[in-house]
Amino acid sequence: MPDTEKKGRVLIIDDDPGVRDLLSQILSDVGNYETEVAADGFDGLEKIRSNGYDIVFTDLKMPRLNGMDFLKKSREIAPSTPVVILTGVSSMEVAVAAMRKGACDFITKPFKLDKIVATTERILGEWKLYGRLASARGSDASLKMLNAELFKRLQEIGALHSISIEVDRCHENKEIYARVAGMAAKLLAVNEVSFGLLEGGDLAVKSAVGVPAASLPVAGSFFESVIGGKKHQILDVGRPSPHTGAALESQLLAIPLLVGDDVFGVLCLSGKADGAAFSEEEVYIAINLARKVASKIENNALYEVFFNNIVATLKSLITTIGARDSYTKEHSERVTKYGLRIAEVLGLGAEEIDTLRFGGYLHDIGKIGVRDTVLLKPGGLTEEEIREIQLHTVIGDEIIKPIRFFEKERKIIRHHHERFDGAGYPDGIGREEIPAIARILAVADTFDAMTSQRPYRMALPREAAVAELNRCAGSQFDPELVRAFEETIAKEEIPHAIGRG
Ligand SMILES: [Fe+2]
Repeated sequence: MPDTEKKGRVLIIDDDPGVRDLLSQILSDVGNYETEVAADGFDGLEKIRSNGYDIVFTDLKMPRLNGMDFLKKSREIAPSTPVVILTGVSSMEVAVAAMRKGACDFITKPFKLDKIVATTERILGEWKLYGRLASARGSDASLKMLNAELFKRLQEIGALHSISIEVDRCHENKEIYARVAGMAAKLLAVNEVSFGLLEGGDLAVKSAVGVPAASLPVAGSFFESVIGGKKHQILDVGRPSPHTGAALESQLLAIPLLVGDDVFGVLCLSGKADGAAFSEEEVYIAINLARKVASKIENNALYEVFFNNIVATLKSLITTIGARDSYTKEHSERVTKYGLRIAEVLGLGAEEIDTLRFGGYLHDIGKIGVRDTVLLKPGGLTEEEIREIQLHTVIGDEIIKPIRFFEKERKIIRHHHERFDGAGYPDGIGREEIPAIARILAVADTFDAMTSQRPYRMALPREAAVAELNRCAGSQFDPELVRAFEETIAKEEIPHAIGRG
């Protein structure tokens, strides 16, 4: 591609040729930037002295002149050139210190292709705006106006940031769908927003503000060119509204939502509260919101598909156990329910709750490997049979092992029969060595076992079971969790079950 079409000039400074060449290649091939490389801060300074760059990436640890010293000196030579720090996760603190010294951002190694290109585009977009604001100082714009402009910009960045956090909190796509229109209206101060997804040949509007939330046909409409062009478009005042057909009283901005190279929806904004046209800054902010929403939707969708497949497979395994031993299945469901309530008292985060839900449901999955004659034996067990039952923790761990991303759940399954004093099985670990969720499940598990009727003994009354948990707090159980348990579950009616666990 000829240089005239390049999006900007980038300098990459790193003493590791592998790193700098990879980054250079990504920015050149994927980002379409003109790139140059330097082997250390000293080389980098020489280059910025004789050439202009739109953005500079620099490593921190380098011979001759390190990244921090380069940053300091580059601020003197080219104060308006943004510098991005390249850092390992272990030196994040240094990266933050570098930002205080004037770096505008940092990227952690190993690099993610998308992240590098997106960060470069974002920084260049923001820097262009700052440049324009700064150059207005010399013209007829007063300092007061410049300050007002900067203040507005800071407010917009703040609003985009808080909306970005709001989007991140939505773990289900239907929640995002319902909220996007409202978020966009708030962020861009517009009265009319629609957020639609492509379904069949239509744009099915999932949320709307100030316009009808009806499906819109794509063929032959304005949306067809937005979707086909994969780029935002603006409709001017007087043109027919794609929502109602009436003449637009203010501009309309339509932004396609993309996953990879495919458009899957359109975010449409019009009716600016101040009646003016969309500024370049507003278009930039709206595009960023659409990108954020699209990437979260993609992540959620991937996660949902992946999670549902795994859960379906494991549920079918649990059903297999249920066919042999109905107690294990029902017991697992009750233990999970009690565990979740303990987690609620403790205020655990969403990720830990997910681990608990999954680990709780599957904690006895290893019983699939225990013989029927032992698992379903009505009388007392021999020592050998007890050892065989105890093996279900290790077998469960082995079953989950091949599934990547379930490391935490594996540990819960393996350690749910460990004791707080270290006298449990299979590994005899104690206290904080036992994962917190396994400690929670130990309390829930024992309580359910005690209050369930079994072929070889009667169910204990709830009060007696709670008293037993208290007696064993500090030896078998984490005392803090027994207290949390008492706070919630002990007050409720617990149904009894029959079986061995
Ligand atoms: Fe168990």
